[in-house]
Order: sequence, then structure tokens, then C-alpha cells
Amino acid sequence: MKKHLLSIDDVTADDIAALFETAAEMHDVQRREVKKLPALRGRTVINLFFEDSTRTRSSFEIAGKWLSADVINLSAKGSSTSKGESLRDTVLTVTAMGIDGLVMRHSASGAAQQVSEWIDVPVINAGDGTHEHPTQALLDAYTLTRRLGSLEGRHVVIVGDLTHSRVFRSNVKALTKLGARVTVVAPPTLMPSGIGTWSADAGFGTSYDLDAVLPTADAVMMLRVQKERMSGGYFPSPREYTVGYGLTRDRLGVLREGAPILHPGPMNRGLEISADAADAIDSMVLDQVSAGVAVRMAVLYHLLAGEDQK
Ligand code: NCD
Repeated sequence: MKKHLLSIDDVTADDIAALFETAAEMHDVQRREVKKLPALRGRTVINLFFEDSTRTRSSFEIAGKWLSADVINLSAKGSSTSKGESLRDTVLTVTAMGIDGLVMRHSASGAAQQVSEWIDVPVINAGDGTHEHPTQALLDAYTLTRRLGSLEGRHVVIVGDLTHSRVFRSNVKALTKLGARVTVVAPPTLMPSGIGTWSADAGFGTSYDLDAVLPTADAVMMLRVQKERMSGGYFPSPREYTVGYGLTRDRLGVLREGAPILHPGPMNRGLEISADAADAIDSMVLDQVSAGVAVRMAVLYHLLAGEDQK
């Protein structure tokens, strides 16, 4: 594996297979009463979050702790960033304390890449602007693999606010790398400009018509409407969005029997996903959260454990 995990471009299909194998072992640890492995004992990981987060940050924190690393959480609110310190100074400061890994989330696309050029320790991108969120895509693919087996030839439909979604960008790369066919669906206003040039990629397509695509899905992933990143009207009303692009109770009826439903969270219940879908028997939302810890343990282990420990 490469030194950093900044993008799904940093991992090959073989790397992903190795990560999933480790994640499966970590998943077993999760079920134990004593959830500790010594793998990262004596190492220090810092979670540097410049944007809000519930699951990603706590997931990385738990993952690090279960591997016996010392984990420090630093958020922009309450750090010197709010006093005007630059990203570079903040990062160099925490690195100078002697950390072994940096997990970071930032509102600027490319921030993690930039930071990786300034410091010598592995950097893990926990979301950079609208660019990528590689560990989310890995945990989504891991969840799907456990449910469906090989993703080769499987049709995954990703629906929602694509323009603002780093989760979708990482997922398209990860899922197609694993052989899945991916169709992304959004209203024209939330379809990223330039996406037409991606369509040349094997196994990738776009659509504005959810009802046409849904019956052929082996799995469906709903994405949050990211109101905080929107300036202006991307759709006439929430109701209209739901009618066109929400996973409503009616649409559940056209899904293939047993097709898993994913959502990276946080969910806007009643907007992109109905309560019926979120709580359906085939909803994997909480499986994704639990897989998130195992997959992040695997990522931390592969990037931070010394060769002698592997
Ligand atoms: C996503 C994110 O922050 O990119 N959430 C997550 O990490 N689970 C998606 C979102 O905010 O909608």
C-alpha cells in the first residue's frame, strides 16, 4: 500500500482485498468483550477535524483505540485555527509533537493531499470538501461485499446530491475497481458538470430517471442533500425532490427482493430517504457504521503498523 490514503486512486484492487481481509478479522474483535489488539501500542494518531462529523471521527477514534494507539482529537473549534493559525502551521505544530499518523477532514478539496506534502507521517483523508472520502467508500464496498459476495458485474445505483458528494466520488472509483457497474442518479441541477467525460469509463453511467434505473439495482445507495454546501435553489421544494429522487415507500416496492439499501449518514429522513426505507429489513445503514470501525482499523493497521508487526 502507498504511504497515505488520500483518494481511492491510492489503492489497487489487491490493496482493497487485503484491507477487507484484515477488516474481517477486525470485525471479529468488535464482537469480543475485550476489544483490544496491541498492534499500534506506543503509536499516536491525531484526528484533525475542521468540519463537523459524528460517525467518521468517532469511528476513527474507536478504531485507533481498539488497536491500542493513543488517539487525540482536535477540532477547528477550540483549536488555534479559530485564532487565525494557518493550516500549515497547525499541521506542522501537531506533527512536531511526534505523532505517527494524521487523520484529517477539511472543507477544502485537496487539503489532505496538500498536508501530505508538508509532513512525513501517513495522512488519511477523512473527507476533503467535495473531493473524496476514501474510508467511507471502502466501508461501503466492504458492507456490500459481505452482503452480496463478489461485486463483479453487480449493479449499484447511487442517488442524490452528487454535486456536493465526496462519498459518491470515492464510491464510483472503489466500486468500479471491484468490478461493479455503477449508475449515478440525480436531478440535472445536482449532476456534477463534466460528469459526461467520466461516462467513458467502463461500468459507469448516469441517469436523471430514478424509476427507470431502480428495478435493475442490486444495491441502492442514497446520499444526503447537503444543504450546508448549497447557495441558492437546486430544486423547487423538498417535496418535489422527494417525489423525483427520494427512496419513498412506493419505490421500495420496485426494488429487487433483498436488494440492500445504503446511506452514509447523516440521513435527512423524509427528504432523500423515507423512514420506511431507512428502517427496512434490507437497510444496511447501521451495518455500514459497524463496518466503518473494522475498515478503519484495517486502514490504520496497514498504514501505521511497522513491517515487523505484520
Ligand atoms: C458524509 C460526509 O461527511 O462526507 N458523511 C459521512 O462521512 N458519513 C456524507 C454527508 O455528509 O452527507
